[in-house]
Amino acid sequence: MQTVDLFDSGTYEREMPHEYFTWLREHEPVHWQPPGPSRVSEISPVNLAQRGFWAISRHRDVVEVSLDQQRFSSERGTALLNDIDEGTMAQLRLWMINQDAPRHTKLRKLVNKGFTKRVIEQMDAHVRTLSAEIVDRVARKGECDFVAEIASVLPMLVIAELVGCPAEDRDKLFNLSNRMIGFEDPDFADGDDAAGAMVELLEYAGHLGKLRRADPRDDLTSTLVNAEVDGEKLDELGFNMFFILLILAGNETTRNAISGGMLALSEHPDQRQKLVDDPSVLKTATEEILRYVSPVITMRRTATCDTEIAGHSIRENDKVVLFYPAANRDSDVFENPQQFDVARDPNPHLAFGWGPHFCLGANLARGEIRCVFSELLSRLPDIEVSGPVRRLRSSTVNSIKSMPVRFTPER
Ligand code: HEM
Repeated sequence: MQTVDLFDSGTYEREMPHEYFTWLREHEPVHWQPPGPSRVSEISPVNLAQRGFWAISRHRDVVEVSLDQQRFSSERGTALLNDIDEGTMAQLRLWMINQDAPRHTKLRKLVNKGFTKRVIEQMDAHVRTLSAEIVDRVARKGECDFVAEIASVLPMLVIAELVGCPAEDRDKLFNLSNRMIGFEDPDFADGDDAAGAMVELLEYAGHLGKLRRADPRDDLTSTLVNAEVDGEKLDELGFNMFFILLILAGNETTRNAISGGMLALSEHPDQRQKLVDDPSVLKTATEEILRYVSPVITMRRTATCDTEIAGHSIRENDKVVLFYPAANRDSDVFENPQQFDVARDPNPHLAFGWGPHFCLGANLARGEIRCVFSELLSRLPDIEVSGPVRRLRSSTVNSIKSMPVRFTPER
């Protein structure tokens, strides 16, 4: 088998290396990936020489590492694939995704108060309305860019709604979020602009938090700024940073699931027809889209001691990288793993991670995927990809930048 450079984000821009992942799972489930020279200059402004990492590709090993925070830390080197300087890491550790117990447990408990079943069920009604509005805007055109006009719009609007952003601020929040998240690819790269957008977003979060402290409403911001765990509240910086994490963690991931799902349905017309004929299949189809697309490619852990994974020695401070697209096609867990099967059940995929950092927005994202495809397939049942698909250069998110679609226009 020809080696594939898992370090190079260009690898994933070309296509997800599923054949190589299959080989790795069978022959080297704990695979040493040396650092590629391409990597060093790529992560400006840090420009640190990058170390190699252990690539974990089997379902059972991804689960084992994800569950064991004591041996595999999210805090020591953050959950980001790249090595970054200590100063930047100290800032990133304000995000729960880059923390371990006991700090993480406490923050997660507090934030869970805002992500209750009731909140998510209430959001479901909004998600349905927002999905219908998005399809309204394109339905008569007969064609559009799926990413720009559908997949990227819904997650942003949903987060704006969730945090209780007033309607008149929506466009501002939408533009700032877009500027902040599009930094990894050379097509979008403008580090200064992204940093500027983040500062403005922090200010905006501060403003919204202040409003809701003084005058609470029925929204996530009000819950979070007033919630207490062990007599402690989220302070202003804590809330503002969490606000940014929501935007970063909830936007591109859900967008990728929706656009990747559209592509998979377009490539498998028999599966799309199943959904058109019987919308009740949407529930299992949502899980299958998540498994098949795996919108997040990697998360990283750092070994806290000399240890082992599947009999391979790992040294303290080694980087251990979880490959979700690989784990999600493990034939030990999934029958015919390369097949896209909208009725697949059970479907214990790891697209949302596993263990203490299991995605906080999983049910929200599931609702978005379900609603948008319910709306699309009932109103534009012949929607299909009609031109070249451009993929993002990233080793973190499995993202499509643009994808033209066509359909019979609605009258
Ligand atoms: C299809 C969409 C999504 C996917 C595939 C996804 C994937 C993930 C994954 C793999 C993790 C685990 C990280 C780790 O173990 O290091 C995670 C964590 C997280 N996700 Fe998501 N996510 C999605 C949508 C969302 C949404 C909509 C939100 C918020 C509204 C969100 C907020 C978070 C947060 C806050 C964490 C950190 C949780 C913690 O550290 O305890 N995600 N997500």
